[in-house]
Amino acid sequence: MVRPRAEQDIRPLLAILRAVHWPNDPARWLVGTGTLGAWVVHREGALAGHVALTAAAAGRAWPEWHQALGVAPERLAVLRRLFVHPDVRRGGLATRLVAHAEREAAARGLHPVLDVAADGSDAAAFWERRGYRRAGEARLPAGDEGRALRVLLLVSGRAPYPGSPAPSGQTL
Ligand SMILES: CC(C)(COP(=O)(O)OP(=O)(O)OC[C@H]1O[C@@H](n2cnc3c(N)ncnc32)[C@H](O)[C@@H]1OP(=O)(O)O)[C@@H](O)C(=O)NCCC(=O)NCCS
Repeated sequence: MVRPRAEQDIRPLLAILRAVHWPNDPARWLVGTGTLGAWVVHREGALAGHVALTAAAAGRAWPEWHQALGVAPERLAVLRRLFVHPDVRRGGLATRLVAHAEREAAARGLHPVLDVAADGSDAAAFWERRGYRRAGEARLPAGDEGRALRVLLLVSGRAPYPGSPAPSGQTL
């Protein structure tokens, strides 16, 4: 089941995050800024994963994103903070979370984009399978992540909402 993140989810999400990734200030990293929505997924009654959708303007907004899609930056929605507990991966939970966030973006007429660590092969495989394509690369200064990072800039290869053509271009 995918549902909106609630205040009482923060503590169990931080426990999952400890097994996945540990930024400088995990609670701040998780909650972020400019959030349009955040969702959690359960598996067998236990919290198992999380994704957030944020406005592109609040935080990083790479020009490659809107250039690749040919839309104004205000029409972007950034998928962030996607993680699934290591014990329950490859069970379709991230797919359900992201599909939910994509529907939320589409309902607002927004195009999903994201950046992902260039060395994260699991994540790259996931996004490729989901139809995302590469719009460029960038270097993220050491900040919340605690270290400088090379990131791939990805945009959705799917139509943002019914009737809108999918953008063409290279895949990941
Ligand atoms: C990336 C991540 C969120 C995927 O979660 P998940 O619930 O395992 O993903 P799904 O089960 O929905 O995977 C859907 C498809 O993506 C691809 N995929 C997912 N993980 C993969 C992996 N490790 N290797 C290769 N392909 C993978 C597969 O095609 C998979 O379908 P299949 O299992 O039928 O072959 C999870 O591995 C994770 O939390 N990683 C650490 C945090 C992270 O990197 N987050 C992304 C930041 S942008």
